[in-house]
Amino acid sequence: MNATGSMGIAGTVRPCCRLLVAQLFPECPCHQRRVAAAAFFFPRCPHDRRRVSKCPRAPALSLAPQRRSAASLVRAALAPARDEAAVSDTRRLSTAAGPVPGVDRAFERIFVQGLAAVEPLVIERVAEKERMLVVEEKRNVEEVEEEQRAEVAKAREVSESEKEAWRLLKNAVVEYCGSPVGTVAATDPAAEALNYDQVFIRDFVPSALAFLLKGETEIVRNFLLYTLQLQSWEKTVDCYSPGQGLMPASFKVRSVPLDVSKDEVEEMLDPDFGESAIGRVAPVDSGLWWIILLRAYGKITGDYTLQERVDVQTGIKLILNLCLSDGFDMFPTLLVTDGSCMIDRRMGIHGHPLEIQALFYCALRCSREMIVVNDGSKSLLRAINNRLSALSFHIREYYWVDMKKINEIYRYKTEEYSQDAINKFNIYPEQIPGWLVDWVPEKGGYFIGNLQPAHMDFRFFSLGNLWAIVSSLATPRQAEGILDLIEEKWDDLVGNMPLKICYPALEYEEWRIITGSDPKNTPWSYHNGGSWPTLLWQFTSACIKMGRPELARKAITIAENQLSNDKWPEYYDTPTGRFIGKQSRLYQTWTIAGFLASKLLLENPEMASILTFEEDLELLEGCACSLIKSPRTQCSRRAAKSHVLH
Ligand code: GLC
Repeated sequence: MNATGSMGIAGTVRPCCRLLVAQLFPECPCHQRRVAAAAFFFPRCPHDRRRVSKCPRAPALSLAPQRRSAASLVRAALAPARDEAAVSDTRRLSTAAGPVPGVDRAFERIFVQGLAAVEPLVIERVAEKERMLVVEEKRNVEEVEEEQRAEVAKAREVSESEKEAWRLLKNAVVEYCGSPVGTVAATDPAAEALNYDQVFIRDFVPSALAFLLKGETEIVRNFLLYTLQLQSWEKTVDCYSPGQGLMPASFKVRSVPLDVSKDEVEEMLDPDFGESAIGRVAPVDSGLWWIILLRAYGKITGDYTLQERVDVQTGIKLILNLCLSDGFDMFPTLLVTDGSCMIDRRMGIHGHPLEIQALFYCALRCSREMIVVNDGSKSLLRAINNRLSALSFHIREYYWVDMKKINEIYRYKTEEYSQDAINKFNIYPEQIPGWLVDWVPEKGGYFIGNLQPAHMDFRFFSLGNLWAIVSSLATPRQAEGILDLIEEKWDDLVGNMPLKICYPALEYEEWRIITGSDPKNTPWSYHNGGSWPTLLWQFTSACIKMGRPELARKAITIAENQLSNDKWPEYYDTPTGRFIGKQSRLYQTWTIAGFLASKLLLENPEMASILTFEEDLELLEGCACSLIKSPRTQCSRRAAKSHVLH
C-alpha cells in the first residue's frame, strides 16, 4: 500500500529523468514545456499527459441502470445470448457455460430474504376461454410461492453479523458521476487512508460477487466498463511504458477543479498501474480477475451483450496478448516478478507462482467462452486452447506433491542431461524442507507454490490451490486431495481464522534473505503466514464445486462472530491466527464482502457455477507438440499422460 497519489495526478519527477536531464538539459523536460533538444531524447514525455478519465457528460459508455428485479434477472439468465451464432462454441455447447442451473429458484430464495424487491412470476393469459383456468393456476402458483417464501424466511434468519456486513459494504461503495463503480479497500476511520481509499481490482471481486448474488448488477457492470477505459491508459514508469493491455491495480475517483471556473470541480478516475505502489509491483492478476468477473457477470445476469461489445472484446484480447506474447520462457506458465498478485510485496514468489498460474488458467477458460468467433479471432482461440492444454499438463504433472511424489523427489538422481530425464528441473533432494517431511499427510496433496530450474517452493499457497480446484486446473483427484489436505491440516490452515495465505511462514535466515528483512512480513504475519478472511469465499466456491459444503460451513462458523467482534480486520497473525494482524486495517472491504459472498454461495450452491469450470477432456487430448510423430524424440507429455489423467 502506498502513501503517494498515483502518477497521473501527482506528476512527480522521475529519478531517471532527474539523472539524464541533469546531464543533458538544464531542466527536466517532464516539468518544462518541451524544448527542441528535449523533444529529441524524450519524443513524447508521458509526464506531461496528466490525462485522467473524465466524467462523461453524456452516457458515453451506455451504462444503463442495471438494478433489475429478480424475475427479470431470471428471464435474462434463461434467455439465449443475442447473437448466439457468433458466440464461441465453447459457451454454447459447454454445460458449464449454460444458464445457471436452478437460477430461478436461487434468485427467488435470495430475494425473499428481503435483500431486494421480489417481482412475482407472471403467468400470461393464453386465450380468453382459458382465462378462469389461468387465474386459478396463477393463484395456486402464488400460494405455493408464498409458502416457499415463508419457509425460506423461517429457515434463514439473517444474522446480526450479516446485517452489519451489508451496511458496511454499502458504505464502502464509491460513486463516479453519480453511479456506483466499485468499493474502497477499507474504511477504517482510525487509520491513515494511504491508498486503502482506492478501488482495487482484486479486492472488488468479492464485493461484486456479493452484489451479483443479491441481484444488484449495476455496480458490477459500471466497474467492468470503467476499468476497461483505464486499460488503454498511457501509463509510464520512469519513462518506460508497460504493455497496452495492463489493468490497473487500483483506481481512485478524484475531484479536480474545472479549468474555467476554479469553484467548480469535476470527477476523474485516476488509476495506479503499480507506478506508485510500494516496490513498483506489476498488477499481473488485475486483468485476469477482470476477465473472471466479466464471465460471472454474464452468467448470472444473462446479459451477454456486455461481453460481446467490441470494446469489451478488444479489452479481453489486449489482456490475452500480454499474457500470450512470446518471451524467453521455457514453460507454459506465466513468468512474473515478485509481488505481482494478492501478495504484493517481496515474498520469494517471482518466477512462476501458483496463484498467477491458476488465475491465468481460469481467465483463459473464461475467454474461450466469451470471445466471439470470427476470422479475426480464430488464431487467438487456437492459441488459447494450446496454452490451456500445455498449462494444465505442466501444473498437474510438475507442481503436484503428495506423500508418493515427495518420496520420489527424495530419491531423485540429479544432473540428468537428456530428453528422458526423470528429474527434469534438476531438483536437489536436499531442498525438501524439514517441516514437510512430517507435515504432508498420507491422504491428500497440493500444488507447490512455484517451480523453476533447480527450485521447488514447497510452501502451500491457499489462493492458487483453491483456484486450481475452481477452474479445474487440478484433476478431480487432485482437487479432492487438496480439500483432504486442508481438512487434515485444519489447525494449521484454518485454526482460529480461515484461511492461511501460505504455510508455513519464512523464519530466521530465510525471512531475512527472501523477504529482505521486511518488517511487515515478519513470521506468521501479513503475507508471511498470516490468516486472511477474504480467502473464505474462494474456499467456499471450491468446497461447493467438490460437493463438500460442510467444510466451508465449518470455516464460516469459526469466522462469523469473530469477524464482527474484531471489526472485520484485513488479516490475522500467529501460527493459528489468534491475534488481529499487527498492522491490520479494520473494516476491510474484502473481508466483509468475502464473508457475505460465502454465506450467499452456501445458501445458493448452484450459483457457484458462475465461477467454476468442469474438466474439459478435449483439452487433455490436445497436444500441439510436433514431437508426437518424430522418430528422434518422444513427446514427454504423451508418455506421462496416463499418469495425469487419473
Ligand atoms: C494489500 C494486499 C493486497 C490488497 C491491498 C488492498 O496490499 O496485499 O492484496 O489488494 O492491500 O486491500
